[in-house]
Amino acid sequence: MNSVLLVRLAFDLSAAGLLLFGFTYWWLGNTAHELAGTAMFLLLIVHNLFNRRFYGTIGKTRRTMRPLFNVAVTLALLVAMVVLLVTSVLISEALSAVMSSFGGFAVRQIHTLAAYWALVIVAVHLGLRWPMIMSITRALFGISKPNAVRAWVLRLIALAIAIHGVWSSFELGLSGKLTMQVSLDWWNFEKSVIGFFVHCVAIAGLCTAVTYYALKWQQLRKRTTRTA
Ligand code: HEM
Repeated sequence: MNSVLLVRLAFDLSAAGLLLFGFTYWWLGNTAHELAGTAMFLLLIVHNLFNRRFYGTIGKTRRTMRPLFNVAVTLALLVAMVVLLVTSVLISEALSAVMSSFGGFAVRQIHTLAAYWALVIVAVHLGLRWPMIMSITRALFGISKPNAVRAWVLRLIALAIAIHGVWSSFELGLSGKLTMQVSLDWWNFEKSVIGFFVHCVAIAGLCTAVTYYALKWQQLRKRTTRTA
């Protein structure tokens, strides 16, 4: 097992965790939020340095569904993260001591909009990499042979997470968050902290599963039309 790849995945997992942590502004407050966001951006800079070769190959991308979708998702993620970073600087309370703050209500709204889109797009980005993540997980657990029962158990778990994800997207008012509708309906962290994380992970799981199975289905369809 390539140890550099494992370190990279540990960084990726930490960045995903910090992104989720960022949604808990009303639980832990501004300082924790700004520290988590800064750490996430530093990890994402490292992530992009590791993957820098990808950008040089965009012009040579095969004109087929999966590679083109991969490029589109990566560029959408780049836009969401740049918007998140720029608006973070504009509304930062820590930076307001050294520069004048430009953060009005609209900038905060755009910041929240970019954050929820980042959650969805990161999950799609992970769905595109799911075969690789699963093959590394199999290697870590020393699994070398396919097993139908294991595969079906995992599929049923994915289905349960996806169904939970649909419910969670209503519970968190996701469609309103992704369309920048103003709402004062924040999650009540006094009621439950873990419940909020479960909803966020389920929404991400839903997007990852839909991406993974849609691409798998598209691949199968291509194979059957080729052999027909
Ligand atoms: C929390 C956020 C993110 C997570 C969890 C994540 C996860 C991953 C994973 C697991 C991989 C494959 C393994 C690796 O190279 O480390 C990957 C690849 C990649 N990621 Fe991310 N990523 C995130 C954010 C981003 C952002 C913001 C960008 C910038 C647009 C980005 C660009 C890329 C690129 C260019 C690749 C290689 C794509 C390819 O070769 O097809 N990622 N990401």
